[in-house]
Amino acid sequence: MGMDNLKEEYLQLVTLVREHVAEQLELGLSEAEIKQSDRESGLTRLDLPTLDADAQVCTKCGLHEGRTNVVFGVGNPNAALMFVGEAPGADEDKQGEPFVGRAGKLLTKIIEDGMKLKREDVYIANVLKCRPPGNRNPEPDEVETCSPYLIRQIELIQPKVMVALGSFAAKTLLNTTTNISALRGKLHPYTLSDTIENPPKVMPTYHPAYLLRNPNAKRDVWEDMKIVLECLSNG
Ligand code: URA
Repeated sequence: MGMDNLKEEYLQLVTLVREHVAEQLELGLSEAEIKQSDRESGLTRLDLPTLDADAQVCTKCGLHEGRTNVVFGVGNPNAALMFVGEAPGADEDKQGEPFVGRAGKLLTKIIEDGMKLKREDVYIANVLKCRPPGNRNPEPDEVETCSPYLIRQIELIQPKVMVALGSFAAKTLLNTTTNISALRGKLHPYTLSDTIENPPKVMPTYHPAYLLRNPNAKRDVWEDMKIVLECLSNG
């Protein structure tokens, strides 16, 4: 490409950026909000492998300082069923894969022995992609900073149903403060973002780590998974 063409392209690009900023200012956004919306729309253009690559080098919140691995998610990128947990624990941080510790083994059992599906045929992710120190609860600012990754994952995978594992994932995906025991047992509309054309249904259920401490609650989880399976098979 000749120098003149390059210059022309560059000038067109500058014009486009100027127009974009002017448009955003007209919408009444502050410069900080424009930067934020640009960052988000940056993520909204990425495909799944590129989004993963972006997450692998993310330093947007303090959790990057203590992590061994970013735990982006695993499974079928076209899965009809997606499981969403809270955040990686020690095993997940070490291996870079969600739900591989004791709770993860129980989740795999629920998927494979209970639902008769294969772990690799569903998609598994967490609200936070990096481990909070000592497995403490995620902070609201960490959720806000990290959730564009989850929102984009959901947009790209387009699951029909999502299972929110535990109170934290359920409250995040449903944008509510209602307790998990009141939410579980029925499907809810997804409300974390309104940018998804065919929003998935959300089934909140108990976290497998809770089931390890309270095996009696497995019966409730199985009831929830039966509703999920019915929804998956009923078009
Ligand atoms: N608990 C979670 O919420 N997610 C994991 O990946 C592991 C344990």
